[in-house]
Amino acid sequence: MTEDIPKYKIIFLGDQGVGKSSILNRFSHDKFEEEYQSTIGLDFHSKNETINGANVRLLLYDTAGQEKFKSLIPMYIRDANIILVVYDITLKDSFTHTEHWVNETKDLKREDAIFVLIGNKTDLEEKRQVTTKEAEDFANGKGFIFHEVSAKTGEGVEDLFNNKIFPEMAKKFNIGEEGEEEGGDGTNGQDNNNAVKLDGNQQNLPPKKGGCCGGKNQKN
Ligand code: GTP
Ligand code: MG
Repeated sequence: MTEDIPKYKIIFLGDQGVGKSSILNRFSHDKFEEEYQSTIGLDFHSKNETINGANVRLLLYDTAGQEKFKSLIPMYIRDANIILVVYDITLKDSFTHTEHWVNETKDLKREDAIFVLIGNKTDLEEKRQVTTKEAEDFANGKGFIFHEVSAKTGEGVEDLFNNKIFPEMAKKFNIGEEGEEEGGDGTNGQDNNNAVKLDGNQQNLPPKKGGCCGGKNQKN
């Protein structure tokens, strides 16, 4: 029954414009948009998947890279089961800045979570500023899964989820075959692309333009 499907929260972190929403869009809908629509507050999506023969629901939290929304993020990290930190391989700063989120997630002592570092925009190889090796070494040192992708071409995206994240989820959360764990943290996550309620911190948000967190984007 639908209500019994275990739910797992996945949060996307990283600088503005690194391609968090684009990776999510590629993963969820196999689509890509050239036009940049910066995320406002937080976007929420959900997707059903079969992992190790078991049905699960992934609750996907797409955070905003803009500095003014940063204060909202730790409360979402706190109960995420999978933490994805994204940088742009053509922007060294975006890689350097991942350290902030890597440390923040470590500080929150989420040993029970899965951590992933993602280098995006591999289609722009000629503009690369971050080598695969330095990112891989950094990820290994921090105990992160590492993968490079292109949300634009789709390269690496399926591979990342199907061959790295899902097998790790199956192992860590005991999904499938031997029996499924109750979803992640027992969340009552929404069934579809509904807005996430920002409870206590909602008053910290800027004035709404068509909704702070309901999947509305702002054109830059
Ligand atoms: P914020 O919501 O502002 O934090 O940004 P974001 O991290 O969600 O970035 P977004 O997905 O909106 O992408 C930013 C810009 O980069 C858009 O113009 C995308 O089209 C572009 N982009 C995203 N991924 C890729 C990629 O793999 N290759 C190339 N060439 N462009 C990409
Ligand atoms: Mg975005």
